[in-house]
Amino acid sequence: MCGIIGYIGKQQALPILIDGLKKLEYRGYDSAGFAVHSGEGVVVKKAVGQVANLEKAILDSSFQILDSNIGIAHTRWATHGVPNEVNSHPHTDCKQRVFVAHNGIIENYKELKHYLQERGHTFTSATDTEVVAHLIEDFINQGDDFEKALKLALNMLRGAYAFAIIDAENSAVLYAAKCQSPLVIGLGQQEHFLASDPSALITHTKNAVYLNDFEMAKISAGEITIENIRREPTDTKVVTLEWNLEQAQKGNYQHFMQKEIFEGPETVKLAFAGRLHEAGVKLGGLEQVKEKLETIKRVIICACGTSYYAGLVGEYLFEEIAGIPVETHFASEFRYRQEPFEPGTAAIFISQSGETADTLGALRKAKENGLLTLGIVNVVGSTIARETDAGVYNHAGPEIGVASTKAFLSQITVLALMAEYLAKVKRPGLLEELRNIPGKIGAILARASEIEKLAEKYLYHKNFIFLGRRYNYPTALEGALKLKEISYLHAEGYGAGELKHGPIAMIGKEFPTIALVPGNGVLEKMYSNLEEIKARSGPILAIATEGDQHISAIASDVFYIPATLEPLEPLLTVVPLQLLAYYIGAKLGYNVDKPRNLAKSVTVE
Ligand code: G6P
Repeated sequence: MCGIIGYIGKQQALPILIDGLKKLEYRGYDSAGFAVHSGEGVVVKKAVGQVANLEKAILDSSFQILDSNIGIAHTRWATHGVPNEVNSHPHTDCKQRVFVAHNGIIENYKELKHYLQERGHTFTSATDTEVVAHLIEDFINQGDDFEKALKLALNMLRGAYAFAIIDAENSAVLYAAKCQSPLVIGLGQQEHFLASDPSALITHTKNAVYLNDFEMAKISAGEITIENIRREPTDTKVVTLEWNLEQAQKGNYQHFMQKEIFEGPETVKLAFAGRLHEAGVKLGGLEQVKEKLETIKRVIICACGTSYYAGLVGEYLFEEIAGIPVETHFASEFRYRQEPFEPGTAAIFISQSGETADTLGALRKAKENGLLTLGIVNVVGSTIARETDAGVYNHAGPEIGVASTKAFLSQITVLALMAEYLAKVKRPGLLEELRNIPGKIGAILARASEIEKLAEKYLYHKNFIFLGRRYNYPTALEGALKLKEISYLHAEGYGAGELKHGPIAMIGKEFPTIALVPGNGVLEKMYSNLEEIKARSGPILAIATEGDQHISAIASDVFYIPATLEPLEPLLTVVPLQLLAYYIGAKLGYNVDKPRNLAKSVTVE
């Protein structure tokens, strides 16, 4: 949800900013812009649409690569104000002294804008961000120096922000500030980088400092000073970024989404690597809360999007393997519901980015209510990872495609490990079979061309229903989400047993069903549900287990997957669904890595 980048040091700033914007583009691509110090003052350039348009605007205007060693840039996911040039960041004040790039939402911007207009400030954009530039200007007008003015302004803001700010009168300092939205400073030799997430930094450095809420940084080429604007102690730690450059590049794949689907086998391996032992599962990140976990009576899982569907799979895993009752909530709903909590409740927050505003809000509510909080997070050092009491990292590497794929596999693997870790009586064969899963995903991927052909056949339809039962019910929901996200086709996921209570009314020859029918205890129930669809002329694409002779008599098309234990089925059944969505989206000509209206990391409510 908006990406920001900043640079100060000895290199040319502009190429670094543009490269950083491209890495952060998955966070928003409605418009992009930058502000750099040059010999002639601050130069600003903006363009609507993707970063490529900004690059083109630079070339078209015979804009020279300025001799500039300091600048900030922004790629936007519009919240306040339509995506046009005027609303693009960086924003500035009346005198064009303060330049601000912002990720987040200033919730009290209307009252601040009114106050500033009364004091004679003129606004040009419809954004919430512009008030920040004018607010800083207002304090400067009252005699404060830039730094003090910034601090005073920050203390007046409500909402979420990560800021990169420059002062036209000082080309030796870059300012940063954070509250709720992520911001990380990359440490170089006589140079510093600023970014919304580490994927934009790994080309330059492995050493970074994450800013905490209410922290503000004054960054020069040689030095960083961090202070808490509420005068609370700061907690600055240098972390080593784990990701490598290759992981953040497309390689020979056409899209990141395709690459990430094909990383499935490795992703599952990385999630269980070092965690499977003869005596069972070892999860180092949970050791410090082990005793508390032994007395846990109830678990609440909160997440959004694909992570939420992984959480729904987790519900089955925890209840059936560990015998612990679980409820999974949309984080955005959990946040505002009022419910009694009992002692012995743990809350698990699942988030690939570790920055999703709704999940973070739910986590903070759980903490206020004294629950034990655990994270399943991919991005090391992210806010959710830092604020939970304990947790397990996914180690899935960067996920760049906006539609989440490999993170889902990783999250389910970790949930299965946690379920086994908490189980008093271990599930025979589960861990042995988990070791086989990467090979089985590999076997499915080796037949991706079969799914590609099926995609060509089904892409003419406008509506789809995805059906599954038990572990494959959330998987069906995830399959429908994938298709909606990247192909803009209407798709609904349903528990197959619910079909007869409404959705069957839609079934007909133009309304295909994608059915998850692996060989488990509910197979016969699934057959019956699919017969009901067949009787109404609905086309059926079934994902079934190798050796199932019966399914081909019911379904129009069958894609076979290897057999596995039922709790691990989603790790296999979701893969053809991811491929199907990918191929349909790509064949319809859409930018599958950057679907319209979406952003990878949603840092606003
Ligand atoms: C956005 C993304 C989804 C993702 C969801 C949760 O909506 O587009 O792909 O599943 O956020 O993100 P998280 O980082 O918390 O897992």
